[in-house]
Amino acid sequence: MWSGRFSRDSHQLVREFTNSLDNDRVFAEQDIQGSVAHARMLGRQGIISQEEADQLVSGLERIREEIREGSFPWRSDLEDVHLNIEHRLTEMLGQVGEKLHTGRSRNDQVALDLRLYVSQRVQQWEVLLRKLARSLADQAQEHLETVMPGYTHLQPAQPVSLAHHLLAYVQMLKRDGQRLAQAQERIRVSPLGAAALAGTTYPVDPEATAREVGFEKCFANSMDAVSDRDFVLEPLFCAATITTHLSRLCEEIIFWANPSVGFMRLPDAFATGSSIMPQKKNPDIAELIRGKAAGTFGALQTMLSLLKGLPLAYNRDLQEDKKPFYQADEIVTGSLTLMAQLIAEIEFLPDRMRKAVSAGYLNATELADYLVGRGIPFRTAHHITGRAVAYAESRDKGLEDLTLRELRGFCEDVDQEVFQVLDPHQAVARRNTPGGTGFEAVSRQLSEVRAWLDSEGE
Ligand code: ARG
Repeated sequence: MWSGRFSRDSHQLVREFTNSLDNDRVFAEQDIQGSVAHARMLGRQGIISQEEADQLVSGLERIREEIREGSFPWRSDLEDVHLNIEHRLTEMLGQVGEKLHTGRSRNDQVALDLRLYVSQRVQQWEVLLRKLARSLADQAQEHLETVMPGYTHLQPAQPVSLAHHLLAYVQMLKRDGQRLAQAQERIRVSPLGAAALAGTTYPVDPEATAREVGFEKCFANSMDAVSDRDFVLEPLFCAATITTHLSRLCEEIIFWANPSVGFMRLPDAFATGSSIMPQKKNPDIAELIRGKAAGTFGALQTMLSLLKGLPLAYNRDLQEDKKPFYQADEIVTGSLTLMAQLIAEIEFLPDRMRKAVSAGYLNATELADYLVGRGIPFRTAHHITGRAVAYAESRDKGLEDLTLRELRGFCEDVDQEVFQVLDPHQAVARRNTPGGTGFEAVSRQLSEVRAWLDSEGE
């Protein structure tokens, strides 16, 4: 393509080293979409004739067919997807094919292709996030009144509703979806018309090409347009956050599935066995999702490092921007898909949860609050309750197993009603402050989650 300037071919090793076909072939469809928009604009603006524009468009459409049916003659000696398609177009149309690149550079071309591709993938992430949120909401619906231990420091803290616990993850996913939607506003900006870096002398119409590829906006500064890759950084940060959330959920699943905890049974189809220990049922899917999260952090780090030293405008370093995105995409897509199915098939074991709630004095706060209700200042109530817990623990009993006499030994204001207060189900039921774990509060939360899920199409 640039032989005019050179007197001999580049070294074979150089050609291999600079070749990006394996990485950019992925967005051949987007490359054609951008070229079609560009060709139409050239025709409309009278930069080429209308007839030439029509020829270019139908040639590009034929190439799209060839690529789809696998008959496109990919040539690894042509550096990238752009040169492959342009070369084929010229093979088909002769000199007219050579007009496609008028007023355009591969610098604005590749930036557009990648933006189109990233936008499409991010849209798919949004769909998958909602699928997972739906699986969690369905389980929450089933377990509105299932009471389980809530933890801080992974030590038993207060009883909570399992639905509340699951919906906490839905809230994370909802924010992840919002972040992606906001990132889309900045991804969906067309750089076409920036040309190599300085714009062009041809009367191009960047707003029209932006509209034609379905983007809402076009660039404001041609140098920024060809060298900006924060439209990749943002989704990579989102990917890192999504997989962080998933990894936390994995950690819960691994803990819950441990037989000494026993809060759930792993579905057979989503567990693996051991080659030596016959009793084993391992949560490998959850472990792998947790492990793969590391790859998205790596991708974000790679991208930040790639960009930090680049002067304006295009630098060939930018060719290395695709692999981190693909890597993160594969992880996000795979992890969200598997997690949605895993959650749908988990069998929670409310009896085991109930048993766990009765060990570890999760109702101690209830006793303290009860004493406050009797006019005792909270700090004093806290102290009295602490002593009662130490006493019960020394006798290997729960607070609710102490007699009224024993409890009165700590505070004479205690009466029979205290036993209702100590009941963990009641403890959950009473916490209906906004966003709390009480059954009514959680029902309200679930309705809001459902409304959100129903408000956005698949
Ligand atoms: N393969 C290149 C990339 O991915 C396309 C742009 C090449 N531009 C250039 N000036 N060499 O970035």
